[in-house]
Formats: sequence, C-alpha cells, structure tokens
Amino acid sequence: MKSYQQIIAENLEWAKEVFAKIDKKMSVVSVRTRDVVAPDGVDKNGRYCPRNPANWTSGFFGGLNAMLYEYTKNEEYLITAKRQEELLDPALGDFEGLYHDVGFMWHILSGALYRITGDKASKNRNYFAAASLFSRYVTDGGFIRAWNHPWKGNNAENWSIIDCMMNLPILYWASSEIGDDRFKQIAMAHADMTLMDHVREDGSINHIVEHDRETGEMVCSHGGQGYGVGSSWSRGQAWGLYGFTLSYIHTGEEMYLDTAKKIAHYFIANCSDDWLPRLDFRGPAEPVYYDSTAGAIAACGLIEIAKHVPEYEQGVYLNAAVNILRAMESKFMNYDPDTDYMLGYGSVLYPDNSKPDEVARITHIPIVYGDYYFTEAILKLLGSEFLPW
Ligand code: GLY
Repeated sequence: MKSYQQIIAENLEWAKEVFAKIDKKMSVVSVRTRDVVAPDGVDKNGRYCPRNPANWTSGFFGGLNAMLYEYTKNEEYLITAKRQEELLDPALGDFEGLYHDVGFMWHILSGALYRITGDKASKNRNYFAAASLFSRYVTDGGFIRAWNHPWKGNNAENWSIIDCMMNLPILYWASSEIGDDRFKQIAMAHADMTLMDHVREDGSINHIVEHDRETGEMVCSHGGQGYGVGSSWSRGQAWGLYGFTLSYIHTGEEMYLDTAKKIAHYFIANCSDDWLPRLDFRGPAEPVYYDSTAGAIAACGLIEIAKHVPEYEQGVYLNAAVNILRAMESKFMNYDPDTDYMLGYGSVLYPDNSKPDEVARITHIPIVYGDYYFTEAILKLLGSEFLPW
C-alpha cells in the first residue's frame, strides 16, 4: 500500500491544475456574488439566488471565500467573506429562529475569519453562535436537539440528527477559546449518543433519531432525507464520516477515530465502480440519483482520516478520496466564469419518483456546499493545514 506522501505526490499536478481553475473562476464569482444574501441554488443563468440568512447553508459561500483568502491571500476573497458575514447578522440576532446548524453557518465563516485575521467582531459572532448551540442541550437525555418544535409539521422536540456531528467543532472551539470545558463536555456527550444511536453495527447511519427526553434512549428512527427508514442516505453517511473524524481531531478520543473508520469502510464499500456517490446507498438501483455533495464531504473526511492512521493504513482512505474527487471533477465540475456554481449533481433529498417537477427541483442540481467541500478537499491535497472546522 502506498503511503500518504506517495499518493499526494502522484496527484499533486492534477490537484494544482484543478485549484488553478477554481481560483480563476472564483475570483470572478466572488466579486459578482459579494452582495447576494446567503447564496444558494441557481437561476436559469446559473447565477446564485439570494436565500433567507437563517437557512442552514447561509455560511458556505462566505466560508468558501474565507478559505480561499486563507490560501491565496487575494484580498477580494476577504472582502466578500466579511460582507457575507454582515449579511448573516439579522439571522444571528433572531434567537428564536436559530437551530442546531449554527456551526455550519458561523464556524466556517466568522470562526474562520477570526482564526485567519484575529478580528474580534468575528470572534464575538462565533461565541454567540456557540452559546446558542450550547443552549440546545437536553440535560437529562444527553443530546443536542436538532430543530425547533414543531418542525415542518412534525413533533421534533426530542430529535437528534447525524448532521449535528458537523456542528460540534464550534463547541470544541468555544471550549478552548473561553477556557471552559463544559462546551466540550456537551459536544462529547452528543458524539457518544450519536455513536450509540445513529451509527448502526455495519457502519451505516440512522439520519434522524427520536429520544426519550428523560433517559435519552432511542425511541425510534425516522427516514429523513434518504429513501426511507433503514436506508442509507449518502450525505448522512458523509456527515458521520467527517464529523467523527473532526471530533477525534479536537478531542484525541480514539473511539471517535474508530467510528469514523467504520463509517468510511461502509462508505467505500458502497461506492459504485465509477466512484460517483449515489444519493442513497440502499435506494433502488434505478433511476440513478447522484449526490456530489456526499462525495465532496466524504473526501474531506477520508483525507483527514488518512493523516491520523499508521502509514500502512493511509492508502485505503486517501486513494478512495482521490478516486471520488477525480471522478466527480471529470463529470460534474463547471469552470465557466459566466455561471456561479462549480460542482453540479447535488441532491437535496430522495425525491418522489412519481413527481417529475420535484425530481427536477431537488436532484442533480448545484448546491453551494458542494463547491465548499470540493474546494476544501482539493486544498487538503495541496497541503493546506487550515482546518475550517
Ligand atoms: N443538513 C441538511 C442536509 O444535509 O441536507
């Protein structure tokens, strides 16, 4: 098995070429999209649409610009990231509108800007976001409640979801920044619960778990964004894979790395021969629905796992990441500077196949965090040490 360094060396020229194309395009898109609020989804011209700043995806475009500034030092990216941060302030000021996704929204934007520039206002925003996540912890049950109640007509009072593993890094950050390990304790309690209730024996994942509020015990799981109860939504797999890796990086707890590896083995085993991630690993074989975002998120996690395992294990994870990224780059990437998005073929959730309008609206579309994670993964291959999470 080749080592991490050998595999990186073999793919370095390719990664450099890909990043040069990303940078060329994004230096145009960054300026053009600067004032669009919480950009996500594209219009018929391929330009980003404004969204509600309370949307969970609102931090990704700004975060992408922060990450690009950190690597290139091109000031235009910094100006856009700071502008995007201001545009999210109304959402941060609306306490009742917040839910568990504040890590996605602020940690990779304000948290990243603080770590890159030392800006106190960015740090303050990230503190507020961390404190609001802290307040969602259900003390008796030992889990962080995902959404507000009711949620889209459901009684979501005692629901946790796998995605929350990606929100825990803001708590690890607050813990060390403030010097109060209660933030970390809550994050680890939630990660421990996730390990027991969301990660199945075979490494596949329950998206949504409903808990007993007093004991925290799992009452049942809900199908969520995958094909159905018991299926295997690939983005949920990727959230778990990268999320447990990050909890390991921030705590040093080996059990989290072992869990990340278990999810990774399942993910790799379920990738098709073409390495293009399907929307649900247990969905029907036809019609084929891809989800490029799952591939990009998983690639980030796989690369990080490879950095933290012995040399003879590294190739398993790094080769899989490179295979996914190369396959998606050749099939899904768009470098046309007249359009705003880069990675196509994202899917929001498993559609109702009998509704063509719904299929067209939520599958095989550009999604802003696809661009984010794809770029993050390429920067990792280029040796960037900046971990936005
Ligand atoms: N966090 C919601 C999603 O992955 O679609």
